[in-house]
Amino acid sequence: MTVNAKTRVTPRRALLLGAVAALAAGMVVGVTGAAQAGTTLGASAAEKGRFFGTAVAAGRLGDSAYTTILNREFNQVTPENEMKTDATEPQQNQFSYGNADRIVAHARANGMQVRGHTLAWHAQQPSWMQGMSGSTLRNAMLNHVTQVATHFRGQVAWWDVVNEAFADGGGGGRRDSNLQRTGNDWIEAAFRAARAADPNAQLCYNDYNTDNWTDAKTQGVYRMVQDFKQRGVPIDCVGFQSHFTGGSNYPSNYRTTLSSFAALGVDVHITELDIRNAPVDAYRNVTNDCLAVARCKGITVWGIRDSDSWRSSESPLLFNGSGQKKSAYDAVLAALNNGTTPPTGTPTTPPPTTTPPPSGSCTASATPGQVWGDRYNTSVTVSGASTWAVVVSITSPQKISSTWSGSPTWDGSGLVMTMRSNGSGDTFGFTTMMNGNSSARPQIVSCTAG
Ligand code: XIL
Repeated sequence: MTVNAKTRVTPRRALLLGAVAALAAGMVVGVTGAAQAGTTLGASAAEKGRFFGTAVAAGRLGDSAYTTILNREFNQVTPENEMKTDATEPQQNQFSYGNADRIVAHARANGMQVRGHTLAWHAQQPSWMQGMSGSTLRNAMLNHVTQVATHFRGQVAWWDVVNEAFADGGGGGRRDSNLQRTGNDWIEAAFRAARAADPNAQLCYNDYNTDNWTDAKTQGVYRMVQDFKQRGVPIDCVGFQSHFTGGSNYPSNYRTTLSSFAALGVDVHITELDIRNAPVDAYRNVTNDCLAVARCKGITVWGIRDSDSWRSSESPLLFNGSGQKKSAYDAVLAALNNGTTPPTGTPTTPPPTTTPPPSGSCTASATPGQVWGDRYNTSVTVSGASTWAVVVSITSPQKISSTWSGSPTWDGSGLVMTMRSNGSGDTFGFTTMMNGNSSARPQIVSCTAG
């Protein structure tokens, strides 16, 4: 039979006709009537309403083996180093976007979304910033956020506004850094500046070792995000780096972590996935966990081939050094293709709450900190409660001039400060101006739990 142009059946129509025929024949088409299984990570993730991305190094864009895989498999990219502070503002107020712009141009030409990484971080700071402190640093950081987010306005879908601001270990508090020492509100200040500079970008907090739901660090970040949502600080998403190694293996409660954060009203992303020796099971589980959480919008692996990895000796990625697909690749693709995905709006698992703090007393101990000619620091560590109010009194004419890692209120005299925990851990601190009295030191009056 000859077919003329009018009656020729396009592949799409053929599919449709096939489905109609199948229906007519009484076959169940539910799943088989859905889109065909994707043959690449990006296409398959897109069918599930997700992205599948990779970190990209500008220096490798000239390697055709690299770009062949990049363009075929991924629909999202994160510049691996090119948008970090040392790269984009190497001298103060002199911005340098060449390598970042190259990655963004490649992404745009190939229909990939870009995650900006990262605007404010304690690491990979230019040397001029490393030496700064106080309001000078705070202002320089905010200027950086504003300038960089403005430069990329409309081109970056998500920003990792702040990276790695929480400490490892048991306290669940903030990491000490020059940025943290500018005051506990530096994170929210960065988010507000980013929102003002690029109102359409989704703003994320990104960290590592936040995968295990019961870890204090995970809980600390969770409480910060909860607090931000309650107070209207502009945050849209949380990134889980998920660099799984011997010391931080894929935890069985990872899905609980993702769904608990999602239940706060933020999207969640797996942002820097790599797993030592690329075990098939762990890669499959991570993929299934993301698919099981409606607000888990995508997965980014931290590099394409093992030879591209920052941990190349651990062979943690989905392609080997020759660019061949590894077993973990097959497992991820199969999971993406087989996975079902809950419709948006499906309630996520309600988060297991942390044990409510007992009401009653706690202990606060003061440790003297740095002393200058006109002022000195004090840090206070609280034990026996996770939320608390510590009353501190000072001697006139001394005056507390700044505080960190707590929410202070004052009595009428200004000499008695009540410091309440704000979710940033069990240590707070403050600076006292001597105002002529260099010998008096603050007294802890009381510690109340709850
Ligand atoms: C890494 C890069 O992969 C390396 O090339 C660079 O030398 C150091 O930084 N957490 C992050 C990423 O947020 O920016 C880091 O990337 C890996 C850990």
